[in-house]
Amino acid sequence: MITPQQADALLREIDAALDEATDREQAIETATALIARHLPHYDWVGVYVLQDGMLNLGPYVGAHTEHTLIPVGKGVCGTAVTENRSQIVADVRALDNYLACSLETRAEIVVLIRDPDTSRILGQIDADSDTVGAFDTSDEAFLEQVAARLASLWQREAE
Ligand code: SME
Repeated sequence: MITPQQADALLREIDAALDEATDREQAIETATALIARHLPHYDWVGVYVLQDGMLNLGPYVGAHTEHTLIPVGKGVCGTAVTENRSQIVADVRALDNYLACSLETRAEIVVLIRDPDTSRILGQIDADSDTVGAFDTSDEAFLEQVAARLASLWQREAE
């Protein structure tokens, strides 16, 4: 859960940081660091880039994970791609198709990063929380705005 005030303030900070960033990797690093620093219920936050049917982990903040390469369809991350929509999981212990990053993780949210012109999936923002039910549609709306900003980095790179 994130308040509109928190979201606005954080998006302004992310915008300022992204203006300064020189490449996509650095921009993702900065954005994920800001999110983790300002939102205590985000215990892990990272970005996966979709390429050739695989999700490749880019910069992240939080515990080390072995899931650096996730096939489409696997886990919450891969399911977001197959179902072509965001995922909000209140308690990962209730899932069969789940890839554990940390044993403490309870809630997870995945929001897709899309090409603004074609809606093609470019990647996703993934966040974990150690608190059951930590994420709701306010987090989804916030992360969608972050995802839209990150999508422009793919475009900048293609220019
Ligand atoms: N839990 C994710 C894997 C990524 S880690 O949480 C960093 C999943 O089930 O796809």
